[in-house]
Amino acid sequence: MKMAVERNGAEKDDAAGHIRCMMSRRKFLMTGGVAALSVSTISLSLFPGGTVQAEVVEYPRKRIARLSQLKNDVPVDFNYPDDAPGSSAMLVKMGGIRAGGGIGPQEDVVAFSYLCTHQGGALEGLYRVVGDHRVLGQCPMHLSTFDLTRHGIVVSGQAYESLPQILLELDGDDIHAVGIMGLLYGRHRNVM
Ligand code: FES
Repeated sequence: MKMAVERNGAEKDDAAGHIRCMMSRRKFLMTGGVAALSVSTISLSLFPGGTVQAEVVEYPRKRIARLSQLKNDVPVDFNYPDDAPGSSAMLVKMGGIRAGGGIGPQEDVVAFSYLCTHQGGALEGLYRVVGDHRVLGQCPMHLSTFDLTRHGIVVSGQAYESLPQILLELDGDDIHAVGIMGLLYGRHRNVM
C-alpha cells in the first residue's frame, strides 16, 4: 500500500518520528497515488506487523490577510493551496465566537473551502450569523450547511463530510494559510 502525506515545509525535519495515521493541525494523511511533488518517503506502522510507505509533500505557506484589518463577520476570499479549480476559500473573524482551529486572541478567526463536500456546490456569499452560531450554507444545490465553529461539520443537508478547514498560523499581524484538514472537493489530493 502506498500513501501520501501532505504537510507544511517547516515540519520537514521532524516528520518521520511524529507522523501518525490521523489528522493533526498541519498534517493530512490520505491514500492515493504517487505524488509528483513528494519530497521524501517514510515508513508508517498502521497495524501490528504491517507497514506502508508514505510519500511526503509540502503545503505552501501563504499570507492571506492581516488580523488588524479583519471586520467581524465579513469574509475575505482567497485561494489555497493554489489558484486551480477547487481552491476557492474564505477567511472570517467570527465576532468573538471561539472556534475549533481558530486563531487570534479570541480564537475566532477560521478559514474554510468554498466548495460543498457533497457535489461541489458553491458556498460563496452564504456565510451566516445566527445568534452565537456561525455557519456556511445552505448550499444552493441540496441545502447542506456547515458549522464553522466546529471544524466545518455538517449540520443539515445532503453532505456527509465536513467542510475542509484551511489551517492558519498567526505571525505578528499576518495570517498565513499553512495546510488543509480534509480533502478539497474534486481533487484526489489537495496539493497537485
Ligand atoms: S452540492 Fe452541496 S448539498 Fe449537494
